[in-house]
Amino acid sequence: MYNYVDLDTINFDGEPPVDDTARQFYYMAGCKEIIDKKTKEIGRKLTACVKTFGCQMNSRDSEKLIGILEEIGYMIIEDEKADFVLYNTCTVRENANLKVYGHLGILQNYKKKNPDMKIALCGCMMQESHVVEKIKKSYRFVDVIFGTHNIFKFAELLYNNLTSNRMIVDIWQDTDKIIEDLPVERKYSFKSGVNIMFGCNNFCSYCIVPYVRGRERSRAPEDIVNEIKKLVADGVVEVMLLGQNVNSYGKNLENPISFADLLKLIEKIDGLERIRFMTPHPKDLSDDVIEVMKNSTKICKQMHLPLQSGSSRILKLMNRHYTKETYLELVKKIKASIPDIAITTDIIVGFPGETEEDFEDTIDVVRQVGYDSAYTFIYSKRTGTPAAIMENQVPENIVKQRFDRLLKEIQIVSNQNTLKGVGNVEKVLVEEVNKQQEGYVTGRLSNNTVVHFEGSMDLIGKIVNVRLNEAKGFYYLGTIEE
Ligand code: SAH
Ligand code: SF4
Ligand code: F3S
Repeated sequence: MYNYVDLDTINFDGEPPVDDTARQFYYMAGCKEIIDKKTKEIGRKLTACVKTFGCQMNSRDSEKLIGILEEIGYMIIEDEKADFVLYNTCTVRENANLKVYGHLGILQNYKKKNPDMKIALCGCMMQESHVVEKIKKSYRFVDVIFGTHNIFKFAELLYNNLTSNRMIVDIWQDTDKIIEDLPVERKYSFKSGVNIMFGCNNFCSYCIVPYVRGRERSRAPEDIVNEIKKLVADGVVEVMLLGQNVNSYGKNLENPISFADLLKLIEKIDGLERIRFMTPHPKDLSDDVIEVMKNSTKICKQMHLPLQSGSSRILKLMNRHYTKETYLELVKKIKASIPDIAITTDIIVGFPGETEEDFEDTIDVVRQVGYDSAYTFIYSKRTGTPAAIMENQVPENIVKQRFDRLLKEIQIVSNQNTLKGVGNVEKVLVEEVNKQQEGYVTGRLSNNTVVHFEGSMDLIGKIVNVRLNEAKGFYYLGTIEE
């Protein structure tokens, strides 16, 4: 962990500081005092479990929450029978949302057996007022509820609950704040997500994210670069730059800067080996970004370019601001510039009014682009979005059939891509010990494809040369080369 501050040096008797970062360290000191006392009382460390739903934004937020929990004296465990359980929720699709209610039922039973247990909820679902109302009414055993805009206030909210034992609810509608320099505990020692911007201004008609993550806000380039330098000093070799639409990074800063220029600054950081980013919106991926990628030795050979639909008619209804033709042109331009690049995507099946012909357009784009991989989603109606009140919602059985057909097409084209790589020797970042096969490790190529090969734990976090011997659908089997 970095940004470590010795909480014992903080004077907790005076008034809480006004500066947001200092104020949170003050409350961390307050929480620690209470947790330390409790630890002595029960003669063991208190445990905490953080469960994350949703995207990489949420995973990164959870690393920040875990950083605070460790700082105040909790031991992090995987088991939800912990003394403190925090759910960082997602609401992008209905099933993400339903899962949380299901889990809460189980937690209620755990809390009956351990009345001192604390339960907290945060994340995107909590930004929906009907969700918070429901929890306040039917899930009274929850201790702390906060949203996406005030996650930095976690220590303060927890302190308020620890000292009052009342349900603490604090949800902000939006924010223009970006609080830097709070503790973070990374899941991986060698790679890390880095937020470059928060929120989204695009309002794709199916999507809830702009409503729950607020308006677009970019971090200052120097804060991003400094964070990455600290990460590199702490052993990180790969960063994933995170934003809902990284192409609009920096436009609203006092001193505007483009995403392409940010990439150039990050490229210069010594010791950093790999740069990834997500997500670029196809409507405004600039030639400059393609040029920077082409000339870079660090930016990975992968572009995640969400298609959503291949039909220009549906894309218009989705408010995506590109057509089938302009999307295909863009892919052509990227491939012409960077021939060995992998293109990956997100696709939604069953958007309201999607006809067989529209769906055929999606299949056509899948074939023409030849994606290396794709996340496919069944359209999920989100209350409050324009698409939720559109007519012609597609019947479930038709959506399911189209979904299966799409999966098959993607499998065909992605398998063809993997086959092309067989025999090559590629640089691989080793990420973990293979869980299925003893004596094997798993890593990723620059284009993000997974490869398994014989090796030991001490390779984790290292970049090694691997010969790709065999393609197995989405992944390779290989051997390490000296
Ligand atoms: N900002 C990113 C994506 C964020 S959400 C982008 O613009 O690409 C991740 C993915 O979830 C989206 O790309 C979309 O494919 C899917 N998604 C979003 N809302 C959805 C909905 N209502 N139903 C089904 N899938 C959805
Ligand atoms: Fe949602 Fe569209 Fe914003 Fe992505 S760009 S988060 S899909 S509104
Ligand atoms: Fe991510 Fe889900 Fe929120 S996809 S931004 S965690 S709604």
